[in-house]
Amino acid sequence: MAAKHALSLKILSECPTSKARVCKLVLPHHTVDTPVFMPVGTQGTLKGMLPAQLEELDCQIILGNTYHLGMRPGSELLDKADGLHNFMNWKRALLTDSGGFQMVSLLKLAEITEEGVKFQSPHDGREMLLTPEHSMAIQNSIGADIMMQLDDVVHSTTKGPRVEEAMYRSIRWLDRCMKAHKRTDCQNLFGIVQGGLDPELRKICVQEMTKRDLPGFAIGGLSGGEEKAHFWRMVHLSTDYLPKNKPRYLMGVGYAVDLVVCSALGCDMYDCVFPTRTARFGSALVPTGQLQLKNKQYARDFRPIDEDCRCSTCARYARAYLHSIATQETVACHLVTVHNIAYQMNLMRTLRQSILEGHFPQFVQDFMDTMYPSKD
Ligand code: GUN
Ligand code: ZN
Repeated sequence: MAAKHALSLKILSECPTSKARVCKLVLPHHTVDTPVFMPVGTQGTLKGMLPAQLEELDCQIILGNTYHLGMRPGSELLDKADGLHNFMNWKRALLTDSGGFQMVSLLKLAEITEEGVKFQSPHDGREMLLTPEHSMAIQNSIGADIMMQLDDVVHSTTKGPRVEEAMYRSIRWLDRCMKAHKRTDCQNLFGIVQGGLDPELRKICVQEMTKRDLPGFAIGGLSGGEEKAHFWRMVHLSTDYLPKNKPRYLMGVGYAVDLVVCSALGCDMYDCVFPTRTARFGSALVPTGQLQLKNKQYARDFRPIDEDCRCSTCARYARAYLHSIATQETVACHLVTVHNIAYQMNLMRTLRQSILEGHFPQFVQDFMDTMYPSKD
């Protein structure tokens, strides 16, 4: 492993007709096959799942959240437990987001100043400030393999000077994060490219950030309800300018079609609450889209969610059973979550396989034909 950074990226195969690639990403706790989807756990658990079950589903890396973990269990306890890996008994790779984005998107009350993100504690209403230095301190206590800079994120459809301000502030905050990061030997800090839907701002941001010697980069500020054409154009442009020899992480993206398209555009890593959150609402992911298991049409349907799925839910339970327990939260949540994670892992595994075997274009064609069949 290169001494400078606590990761290495080995490109195993590149698609000759797109920017898609398969890599081995060697991290301190685990080696990850990319392109990879990372399920999201917020409080140091993935709702309804045990670490051993995630391993069984072939998850190689999961996401934790600095904001939630900093509140509870908090830095002091995390230090005592010798980090989150130990505390939650997860042996594989872990990535933590910096916290600001979650506060802005969840709390709505957050206010951003040059110093950091100001917000009211949801616990006791006290005013709190998350600075780049504070985010790094919490993330160093968590001890994840990859940690994210604190960034200034505006909603992707924002226009005007605020987009430019947030982009330049994110660069200044990146420098503060790099300075405050105390564990470069075992934790990798990624910069996050911002710039809204403005190609020029995105380009400036990538060029500035890649001047810094960072182990990897993320593309942020997308997937907030902008048009697909704009979203994909920004991703395409970003991967054109990002260095080839470093991992590229597209944040907050988890719809199957976006994973396929953005992998063709050269992205390596993704995370999103969508597959696990939608599972808790009774929605199962399948190659043709989604099944809402609460719908009456499944009451007498004795097929599994997906006949071709090899997950434990599909091996044991029929749609009719899942329908009948759909309102009994815990068990149904667990069973559908298992399936949805299996769906994401299987999608990424077959995608990687197709690149390795040289038929990624055919994979994309088949995926699109199944997801969006023609009417006749
Ligand atoms: N999650 C999804 N998008 C973003 C982003 O732009 N920044 C951060 N920190 N997290 C994200
Ligand atoms: Zn299944």
